Amino acid sequence: MKLIDAKKEFNDILKQNGVEDVNNNVTQLFLHALNLTRTQLILKTELTFEEYSKVKRLVKKRALRYPLQYIIKQVEFLGNTITVNKNVLIPRNETEQLAQMVASVANDKQVLDLCTGSGCIGLGIKANSTAEVTLSDVSEKALKVARKNAKLNGLNVKIVKSDLFLNIKGKFDIIVSNPPYIKTKDLISLQPEVKFEPELALDGMADGYYFYKKIIEEAPKFLNKFGEIYFEVGVGQAKTIAKLLSKHFECIRIVKDYYNKERIVCAKLKG
Ligand SMILES: C[S@@+](CC[C@H](N)C(=O)[O-])C[C@H]1O[C@@H](n2cnc3c(N)ncnc32)[C@H](O)[C@@H]1O
Repeated sequence: MKLIDAKKEFNDILKQNGVEDVNNNVTQLFLHALNLTRTQLILKTELTFEEYSKVKRLVKKRALRYPLQYIIKQVEFLGNTITVNKNVLIPRNETEQLAQMVASVANDKQVLDLCTGSGCIGLGIKANSTAEVTLSDVSEKALKVARKNAKLNGLNVKIVKSDLFLNIKGKFDIIVSNPPYIKTKDLISLQPEVKFEPELALDGMADGYYFYKKIIEEAPKFLNKFGEIYFEVGVGQAKTIAKLLSKHFECIRIVKDYYNKERIVCAKLKG
């Protein structure tokens, strides 16, 4: 069978099921299913029935709106390859911006990535600075993925299972966190793909600020003098979080993401 015909058929299946960016999805599924490089895929014109069936199986899964990244099992994040599965949030572009921002000021610092999930933020910082990095999450299943990612990228980090600060020892120069921030009542109306991601990674409780409030209250005890905090925040949350921070923190900044949304809030511990 001609590859071009299979591509058209697969594009149509995904389009009919409301998947966005179908061309890229189909290309990624071909690359993954047939274990090809982009060049090999460009040069390929014919498909065996076995190859066609292999790709189609994945296209059908994607048509159910199962996330592309869970199918191909990895994403690139700040120069690291981050493996993902259903136990961790899929790292987002906006989060890469947060990790980049922290990496640029983290040389020789002690950094705590709270609510680390796949480890993408902390590992991105470790790979791009000379910081000493601790990754922490309450989910053992998520930490298993973070451990695997540290090994995969040859990065030496400390990993601690902890409900927020409960098992955290010592003090840090920087705390960075992308905690769950979606209001519980909004979980039901999320995009179909997001509903496959762990609820533990999404649910920010009744008002969406539960984790920010807890972290802001406790962080001062875990920060060195002039310590800094960096949060990723949900759309519309930045100003409230800046206000919450103002109790213990100063030099509060709100930074917009690539899509012009207020996405990062950072601040320095009051002296
Ligand atoms: C929004 S995800 C962020 C994952 C990753 N840092 C990222 O940016 O892609 C939030 C993470 O917080 C973790 N989490 C939820 N409740 C927690 C708690 N009480 N203590 C520590 N981590 C928690 C979840 O397991 C999940 O991995």
